[in-house]
Amino acid sequence: MADVGKTETTGFLNSPKAATTPAPPKTPDANNDQKPEPEPAQQPAGILPASHWSAISDEPNDADSTFSEDISTTSLTSSILEYRTLHGRTFHREIGQAEAWEPNDERHAESMDLHHHMCQLMLDGKLFLVPVEPERIKGPSDFGDAYPSAAVTGTDLSPIQPSWVPPNVKFEIDDANLDWTWDDNTFDFIHVRFLAGNIADWSRFYREAFRCCTPGGWIEHQDPSFVWHSDRGIPEDSALDQFPKVFWAGGEKFGRSFRVVEDELQRKGLEAAGFVDVVVRDVHVPVGDWPTDPHQKELGTFAQVSLLSDIEGYLVYMFNVVMGWTKTETQVYCAHLRRQLRDPELHPYFTRRIVYARKPE
Ligand SMILES: C[S@@+](CC[C@H](N)C(=O)[O-])C[C@H]1O[C@@H](n2cnc3c(N)ncnc32)[C@H](O)[C@@H]1O
Repeated sequence: MADVGKTETTGFLNSPKAATTPAPPKTPDANNDQKPEPEPAQQPAGILPASHWSAISDEPNDADSTFSEDISTTSLTSSILEYRTLHGRTFHREIGQAEAWEPNDERHAESMDLHHHMCQLMLDGKLFLVPVEPERIKGPSDFGDAYPSAAVTGTDLSPIQPSWVPPNVKFEIDDANLDWTWDDNTFDFIHVRFLAGNIADWSRFYREAFRCCTPGGWIEHQDPSFVWHSDRGIPEDSALDQFPKVFWAGGEKFGRSFRVVEDELQRKGLEAAGFVDVVVRDVHVPVGDWPTDPHQKELGTFAQVSLLSDIEGYLVYMFNVVMGWTKTETQVYCAHLRRQLRDPELHPYFTRRIVYARKPE
């Protein structure tokens, strides 16, 4: 077990450089290809105008794109299967205070399956770092298989989980931004992974987790930084350089932070809620098959395939709906991003922060 209270960094490279402060958000624009381009001066500081990407591109249209020509937004509330459709992608129905930026369709689910495999490779096959084998776990199917004596509860906004799950697993549809529906002291272990940009108030979230955790029980929360690094340098104003800046500005605009790592939201929130013995571990995740170490090469390959399998899915809500980029602007930006992520000379990587802690007895 790592030293309590210290941040460990694992991976293949040195610690990343400090991130810069994001620019203040701007007023949302309509989701409309016909709108006039904003002047560069109207952009949040540090963010290039959306038109920049077409201006420097000789291939404005991307053959892999899955954006639909139809732009329709339908909000229905009568069924948990009545999803909203934006740019041909589906998103969760209206529920609680949720405004998730990830599509819930098959294409994104496939990307998430690859992401899950990447997460396990990142932890050398483990599902989590907490140094116990819990009896009651909040987390989905693989936990149920790995811990057949545990009662496992998984939650999400949409019923997108597999139809066959181990008998000790159940899924519940819940908005984690609201008061949690479980009694005090319900779970021996609460596992949270990749909710950046989804939680309106992390302090409230951790307070609810603390309440629902058994005395002596554990919580683990993994989330990525959206900042890209390379020992060879990330070119200034390139698609990878702009990536966190747009997400951060979008997060400020819609009130759900993408700066979980940069603002140390995990450690601060867990401590404020009352958790103790907080352990912080940073893992560097390569993207691409560029590492020489065979394990890192496999990790990087899965990270790359996961991202490239649905890069539009990661961007469509934040770029189009929140930041007001047009469909074409986002497609062209995606093409630049894809090209950089495939560039064998660039050697990009990002940080994944895993923080775990215990509720006092
Ligand atoms: C980036 S995915 C990560 C999925 C999974 N946790 C993993 O690590 O593979 C984020 C998930 O959180 C869900 N989500 C977003 N906002 C939520 C909320 N307010 N309450 C519960 N789940 C939410 C989304 O529907 C999506 O499935």
